[in-house]
Amino acid sequence: MSYPDKVYLNGNIVNQQDAKISVFDRGFIFGDGVYEVIAQMNGQLFYHEAHLNRLKDGLRKINIDFDISMLSKAIDELIKASDLTCQDYILYIQITRGIAPRKHAYPEKAIPTILMFATPKVLPNINEVDAKVISRDDFRWSRCDIKMTSLLGNVMLNEEAKQHDCYETILHRNGVFTEGSHCNLFFVKNGVVYTHPADQFILKGVTRMAVLDVCSSLDIEVREIPVKTTDLLNIDEAFLTGTSVQIASIQQIDDHILYAKNEKGSITKKLQEAFLKLK
Ligand code: PDD
Repeated sequence: MSYPDKVYLNGNIVNQQDAKISVFDRGFIFGDGVYEVIAQMNGQLFYHEAHLNRLKDGLRKINIDFDISMLSKAIDELIKASDLTCQDYILYIQITRGIAPRKHAYPEKAIPTILMFATPKVLPNINEVDAKVISRDDFRWSRCDIKMTSLLGNVMLNEEAKQHDCYETILHRNGVFTEGSHCNLFFVKNGVVYTHPADQFILKGVTRMAVLDVCSSLDIEVREIPVKTTDLLNIDEAFLTGTSVQIASIQQIDDHILYAKNEKGSITKKLQEAFLKLK
């Protein structure tokens, strides 16, 4: 992915070389901010409102006072300036607490820093990746429900997948699977779909929500309960969901092979096909 030419920064659309942020921005110093990643497909931002609601919720959770209602107009302007009006793209939005002398507690007067940019990206109709994943201890903090910019834990865990030539690292905490380093995680057993409840140990993914909607429309039973690591050998299917991942079938977890190459579970396939219609 190359850098976008234009970025939106604090009310202005500027060339990316001219976009300057203070070194005392708390996003830089503390990772004190939240972000969103939204995909535009077939001329529409996918689940636009759900993403903006999550952003609003994240701002509330970390007490950043910023009214996101101005974002929609700013997004339109950015997309026009980026020459992406008729294309598929990924939009990144980041809001940090702003600039203040370095002190941990929230400053009283900081003005939030708003950064947005969009990069062209065409997502495949169906993600045909047969994902090999590794599993690791989920050593991140216990507020994974906040889509925060400080992603070092996720970065380290994703890098481990790369080092093992794998697509993703799936995580477990206290003996149960939580999510992936950059996506949500689902299992299937006897036709029932399982995923971790949307509590503080996972990000409540928008794609996860879309997949739960699809399950309900297809009358597929869903249980939002954690799957134990000791149950791994008994599961029939597993898949990942996320904005860029969409729905990716898991072929192998560590040494445990679920499917041969180019094969996938029937529920995963059904969900991928239904998801395609949703897009
Ligand atoms: N990642 N869990 C984690 C830890 C994530 O980082 C993401 C998304 C998801 C899936 O959320 P959604 O379906 O709303 O994209 C779950 C984004 C895409 C990223 O950081 O690039």
